[in-house]
Amino acid sequence: MSKTSNINRVDGFAKVTGSATYSAEYKTAGVVYACLVGSTIAKGRIKSIDTKKAEWAPGVLSVITHLNVDKPVGYKDAKDPHNFGQPLQIFKDDSIVYYDQPIALVIADTFERMQYAASLIKAEYFKEEHSTDLNKAKDKERKVDTKKGDDYNRGIQDGYKNAAVILEADYTIPTEVHNPMELANIIAKWDGNKPTLYTKSQGVEGTRRSVGKVFGIAPEDVSVNSEYLGGAFGMGLHTWPYEIAALIGSKKLGKPVKLVLHREQMFTNVGYRPYTIQKIGLGATKEGKIVGLTHEAVAQTSSYEDFMEGTVNMSRFLYNSENVTTRYRIVPIDICTPIWMRGPGEATGSFALESAMDELAHKLNLDPIEFRKLNYAEKDQEQNKPWSSKFLLECYEGGMERIGWKNRKNEPGSVREGDWLVGYGMGTGTFGCYRSPTSVKAKLLANGNLVLQCSVNDMGPGTATMMTAIGADVTGISTENVIIEMGKSGLPKGPTQGGSATTSSVGSAVNDSCQLLVKKIIDLALLNPTFKNAKADDLSFVDGNVISKKEASKTISVMALLEANKLQELEVENQSKADEEAKKYSIYSYSVHFVKVLVNPKLGKIRLAHVVSCADIGTVINQKTSAGQMFGGAVGGIGMGLMEALEIDHRFGRPINNNFADYHVPVNADIEKQEVFFVNKKDPISNPMGTKGLGETALVGMAPAIANAVFNATGKRVRDLPITLDKII
Ligand code: MOS
Repeated sequence: MSKTSNINRVDGFAKVTGSATYSAEYKTAGVVYACLVGSTIAKGRIKSIDTKKAEWAPGVLSVITHLNVDKPVGYKDAKDPHNFGQPLQIFKDDSIVYYDQPIALVIADTFERMQYAASLIKAEYFKEEHSTDLNKAKDKERKVDTKKGDDYNRGIQDGYKNAAVILEADYTIPTEVHNPMELANIIAKWDGNKPTLYTKSQGVEGTRRSVGKVFGIAPEDVSVNSEYLGGAFGMGLHTWPYEIAALIGSKKLGKPVKLVLHREQMFTNVGYRPYTIQKIGLGATKEGKIVGLTHEAVAQTSSYEDFMEGTVNMSRFLYNSENVTTRYRIVPIDICTPIWMRGPGEATGSFALESAMDELAHKLNLDPIEFRKLNYAEKDQEQNKPWSSKFLLECYEGGMERIGWKNRKNEPGSVREGDWLVGYGMGTGTFGCYRSPTSVKAKLLANGNLVLQCSVNDMGPGTATMMTAIGADVTGISTENVIIEMGKSGLPKGPTQGGSATTSSVGSAVNDSCQLLVKKIIDLALLNPTFKNAKADDLSFVDGNVISKKEASKTISVMALLEANKLQELEVENQSKADEEAKKYSIYSYSVHFVKVLVNPKLGKIRLAHVVSCADIGTVINQKTSAGQMFGGAVGGIGMGLMEALEIDHRFGRPINNNFADYHVPVNADIEKQEVFFVNKKDPISNPMGTKGLGETALVGMAPAIANAVFNATGKRVRDLPITLDKII
């Protein structure tokens, strides 16, 4: 274990003391305040919109609607308002495509005057029949029009049907909403034709590209600052209409405009995990060898944009099976476009697959882990490649021991603690390991500090801390002397923070740039008289000094080295990307969640007595931040399993629990005991550090673990999430 593997969060102090600056908190001279007024119907056209009273209200600077907006040049032809695959173009015309769709932007000199003026806006509509219920719109299902949306088949199509023992079941997950603590927020301003945004985004470069596209300017002319995020869970993977609205308002007024969505708008305007109906067909021999697996999913998308995710993908490789069929369909309905939500499709898919595995194990009278081990995949049958590394069995073992799996009985309802039925369950998660090209600049200053620069941002997992640890490890410079500059444009280009790829991408780039920097320092030292006749191999860089390995007395500080060469600093900027070798392997992270539930059969109450989340994520760079991620992901999965559901009143097409009082998420008191365990074995292929990614797989597999534990306790199989007490009693 390296000495940097347990450092505290480098931004922790700033975050808990309030000195970390979130987007809307940037001090901006002359800033004015904006909000969005939403439609009160789910589908139709705006008949009239009365903005007069608002415009005349004190302090109001502008009210922008589809009637007076200066349309950005990137908007497509108005005759084709909702081009296939195009994001919503705010204020483009009079059409309404979802409830609470913004119909007006109100800008005033103070927050209070802005809010008052917004309350004066009145709109009338031509209503059209809306469709917000996926179950009733299934006849509109279609494929996604990209190669990714193709059906998959290996062996005999729907080959599970030929097996001796068959399970066929439908599983449903409701719409869930990301709801990070920090609301969606932006300050937008323009300098001529060049905008600057302080915005909540998971991708600085991605935001530059989308804003550039909308306003017809080069991404390089768009400045984006998104240094601190108070969570995002995927909602920051899109540039949303509210961001474009703030830019439109700011451009019109020539003033910086601040716009913060209110909590209710977080439920309607910035994406969600889509309502998804899945069908599993799983067949095995009497001995428990899987013969075939079919996994189908139908998910909601919006009427104006296609969205798809990897819901059925893990069924193609997680278990050994000659015959596998997957199908994925979307149904456009009148709600805003979904966006990946932590663990995304894999979390949805794991609920179906890992519930079905438990159901079939029960039919076969096999222990669910024994059943999984019987069908352990020695290689990736989908891609026909070897695994780079796979320590899934170690996750099973680690979890079984910690949860007390030996106390589990295969017969449901056969273990009790007082009035409570005891159930044990588990679920497996997996997520691909991705690595994007990333540039990092490593700078050694004369004072011995190491500066690492990258435009990647940190939505909470501890990216800055990871960069610090890797930089310190490679250079031998103490972590206190590492300075991270990130989360804004103008820095070397980093990836979007998503898909669990940040450590693999940015960490590798830090590693490579720091190695090149050390080489540069040593090359410079070789020119110094102190090390006359020495070779590069004879020298090492330790704690800010170049030292001769042969004669410890021969040493020179970096400060002296820079001074001798009349240099202020020494820097390296380098781009890193995955090598060809990695393409020969299939690289996945794994998680296995174990749950012990106590269920009161009379009340239907479910207590989470013990939760253990195990993961094979390759090397663990930082124990604390990784454990934090794993706890958080598991809690997200618990929310998915037991609480979260956005309820739509389909008569009006609008949500009825768009607030934290009615949309429940777990709190500490909901989980009586929680542990995490990492196998922590280096992947030899993935990247120089041997990491595999954690953020997503931390959530994948938790919801089925709970459903399986509830079944083990009660004999009740719940196939539609969340598992609320009405489904138990
Ligand atoms: Mo993650 S769902 O890519 O933020």
